[in-house]
Amino acid sequence: MATVVGGLGISHTPSMGVEHDAYRRTGEFTPRWQPWFDGTRRLRELLAGLSADHLVVVYNDHLNHFDLDNLPTIAIGIGDTFPQADEGWGRRPLPDLDGDPEWGIHLAESLVASEFDLTICHDLHVDHGIYSWLPYVMDVPWPTPITPIAVNMVRAPLPTANRIRQLGVAIRSAVESASRAERVVVVATGGMSHQISGGRFGIANEGLDRWFLDRLPDGLEDLMKIPVTEYMRVGGTEAAELSLWFAMRAALSASATAAYRFQTFPFITGCGALLMVEP
Ligand SMILES: [Fe+2]
Repeated sequence: MATVVGGLGISHTPSMGVEHDAYRRTGEFTPRWQPWFDGTRRLRELLAGLSADHLVVVYNDHLNHFDLDNLPTIAIGIGDTFPQADEGWGRRPLPDLDGDPEWGIHLAESLVASEFDLTICHDLHVDHGIYSWLPYVMDVPWPTPITPIAVNMVRAPLPTANRIRQLGVAIRSAVESASRAERVVVVATGGMSHQISGGRFGIANEGLDRWFLDRLPDGLEDLMKIPVTEYMRVGGTEAAELSLWFAMRAALSASATAAYRFQTFPFITGCGALLMVEP
């Protein structure tokens, strides 16, 4: 039986990736981004200590693979590899992500059996939803294969908080029903407070970000009671992506605990991370 050994909630944003590219060229971060890099040093150590054999990553695409004519609510990648999406300025100098079709197919079958009507993708191009934070917590070549699960966070109607929680529960069941004796970490990634369009462009709310990080380990039910429109009002439209983090918490047991968390605000989008581990 495979085991969920931990969970990671983490922000993503395009500039996070651009800054890491600059760091690899120059060996330095700008003062805005240095705290994010510093904060991910301990995270990276702790994540490595979990010795994951596989990552299940719940994220959202930003119309870089899917488009408004064909936008599934929940899609799963089952390919051998997941190329980087070109977001309009060319692909960054990072390799494709490794998949594991045996895991991908097992997760797809198990989630469909749990009544999730998935879009199944053999060829899924992955954008900054995964590529921006990944090089901060893992080195190239990527050490761990992944199964990406893309959830619509860009166009109404969004899936409900309960649906995202149930997705996390179903992922845990799927992992535990696998015959492979492997260690799995469930990652959920969504930007924290930010708004990148309209008259409120640029608003953010670091207090909301810190409060969310503090509450998620033991307060999932309370966080789910808050309407997504309230997160959007208080934290900016794209703060809706915080609801993806519910899947990570729900994929862990009630006795899982926070091993590490931190928050910073480099540019436009609140950035934070929460690593939880099973006892
Ligand atoms: Fe996003």
